[in-house]
Amino acid sequence: MNNGLNHRLLATRPAPIGIFDSGVGGLTVLREIYRQLPNESVLYFGDTARLPYGSRSPEEILHFVRQILTWMAQQGVKMVMMACNTSSALALDQVQEEFPFPVLGLIRPGAQAAAIQGQRIGVIATQATVTSLAYTSAIQEIDPTRQVWEVACPKFVPLVEQNQLRTPQAQTTAATYLQPLIAANIDTLVYGCTHYPHLAPVLQTILPGTVRCVDPAISMVAAAAQELDALGLRSIAPAWATEFYVSGSATEFKRLAVQWLGHQPTVGQIRLPELAANPQSWGTRS
Ligand code: DGL
Repeated sequence: MNNGLNHRLLATRPAPIGIFDSGVGGLTVLREIYRQLPNESVLYFGDTARLPYGSRSPEEILHFVRQILTWMAQQGVKMVMMACNTSSALALDQVQEEFPFPVLGLIRPGAQAAAIQGQRIGVIATQATVTSLAYTSAIQEIDPTRQVWEVACPKFVPLVEQNQLRTPQAQTTAATYLQPLIAANIDTLVYGCTHYPHLAPVLQTILPGTVRCVDPAISMVAAAAQELDALGLRSIAPAWATEFYVSGSATEFKRLAVQWLGHQPTVGQIRLPELAANPQSWGTRS
């Protein structure tokens, strides 16, 4: 069904900022956009049919990111923030020059915040992000004296996506993943995956009170605000309601997202074969 989304966005809405993630992790970035950039309209895409990204190869991730950015370009976005560390670690450098709008990632802003704040830095992230060592490189490029420990937490994304946040299993899993970082006596912990701030209440019951947590979304959105100002792109009109699209089940996403959004969002579905195809044939909204 052609719902004319691209025409609606282009014709009657101020250009939105596009953000994307594999699922509900991007909502932790959306929360920061609402806080720091309340006048910006947002187009959110969750690639739920293909999550988790963290167990994908660099080639697959780059391919997915190119598809999503192509679709977002067709929607008339003025900027894209990758609300996904895995995409930021594996694909940002390659795609940044390929699209006619700024594309921002989470790794550098997160590394900067961590390097300013701590000496002994723990990073929890997906397997793909940890394997890339993107955080270690970025932090040590800023300050080679900083020590960094990275731990892959592949069970966290399924726990969040299956809404198992407050279960004994979440508690045990978190304790196991954090144990080597606590043993290393870290003073700072980076949430190196946008799903993980959803687990903050659990993580904070396990971490020593002296460990300070860094959410890279805070610094990325601050950097985005500066870039919008520098380019004269900051919106002064009130924002439109966020447009949500997913590649998997819209019903599932709605059911899960309501707890963080505080309302049932309207969510559209984009069929995967059409993600980077003919803009006239995008999916349905419910
Ligand atoms: N939330 C994403 C990240 O920040 C992806 C998680 C996943 O799908 O594995 O890395």
